[in-house]
Amino acid sequence: MTKEEMQEIKMSFGRCLTHGDLFQEFYNIFLKSDPCLAPMFANTDFAKQKALLKQGLNLALMYADGNIIGQSGLRKIRKSHAQNDLNIAPHLYPLWVNSFLSAIQKMDPDMTPQLLAKWRGALTAAVDYIKDGYLES
Ligand code: HEM
Repeated sequence: MTKEEMQEIKMSFGRCLTHGDLFQEFYNIFLKSDPCLAPMFANTDFAKQKALLKQGLNLALMYADGNIIGQSGLRKIRKSHAQNDLNIAPHLYPLWVNSFLSAIQKMDPDMTPQLLAKWRGALTAAVDYIKDGYLES
């Protein structure tokens, strides 16, 4: 990921956040993408969860950028999502990425296929790191 590509992604993220409720849009799409998901969030306070995920997204982008704060933040998410904690099955992560890409496609008025591919690259790097911690304790 070049500096310019990361800058483009951050600008796009900014446009999404000013355009509407990106994380509400994301959860609407994501929770419908597999029947096992809605029950996982049955007792979730979505006002809090959306703020946590926004923070998580910032960490994920920092991680994709090679930033050390992004690495330590994502290490915590990797631990909480592992088998012995939230137990998030690895096959769910592609649904997460695709749902997020659908949400930003709706929210960023300047989205292009090229920009979407850059987003996919950055998110996949971060999500793979979380997913690869599944069996760790
Ligand atoms: C397969 C995809 C995922 C599923 C099913 C999932 C599910 C969950 C659940 C059930 C919670 C707990 C909610 C609660 O407290 O009620 C949670 C928390 C959280 N998730 Fe995820 N998650 C996924 C992917 C991700 C990814 C990719 C990120 C970051 C980019 C992320 C960031 C967070 C954060 C920051 C929290 C709150 C703090 C924590 O528990 O670590 N999640 N997630």
